[in-house]
Amino acid sequence: MEDFESKVGDALANPDNQGEMTDADAVGTVGSPECGDMMRMWLKFTEKDGKKVIDRASFQAFGCQTAIAVASVATKLLQGKTAEEARHLSAQDLAGDLGTLPPMKIHCGQLVEGALRNALDPSAPPATKPQSSLIGEIQSAKPQGIRIVPLSN
Ligand code: FES
Repeated sequence: MEDFESKVGDALANPDNQGEMTDADAVGTVGSPECGDMMRMWLKFTEKDGKKVIDRASFQAFGCQTAIAVASVATKLLQGKTAEEARHLSAQDLAGDLGTLPPMKIHCGQLVEGALRNALDPSAPPATKPQSSLIGEIQSAKPQGIRIVPLSN
């Protein structure tokens, strides 16, 4: 547990891939019914060895430190994965080297999983350009265009 917390602290000290991606191919947004936190994830695909794989992933979070740490790890871990491979990753998989998610923090990992799945959902509308900022949308009085998918638990 202490180990998990210290790894979360390390990830937070210098989170990777934080911020919107203006040239994304896909974007997903979810809100957690458990805590009200929100996350958006952007994906950019590329062609590698005849397969379409994730080239880059980025995220923007309006949420807790664990969700930010997991998203930071997950966006690195997603590089080179096909959409099909990414779709099968659980919250725990996405937490990678952070280690086992404590029971109280599982939903934080699920927030990242939910944003990823939403981005990979072929029925989701394509990313529009320019992407507005998640925090800007949350703070805005008119949160139009934001697609919030509640996580089922
Ligand atoms: Fe809400 Fe962690 S407490 S995502």
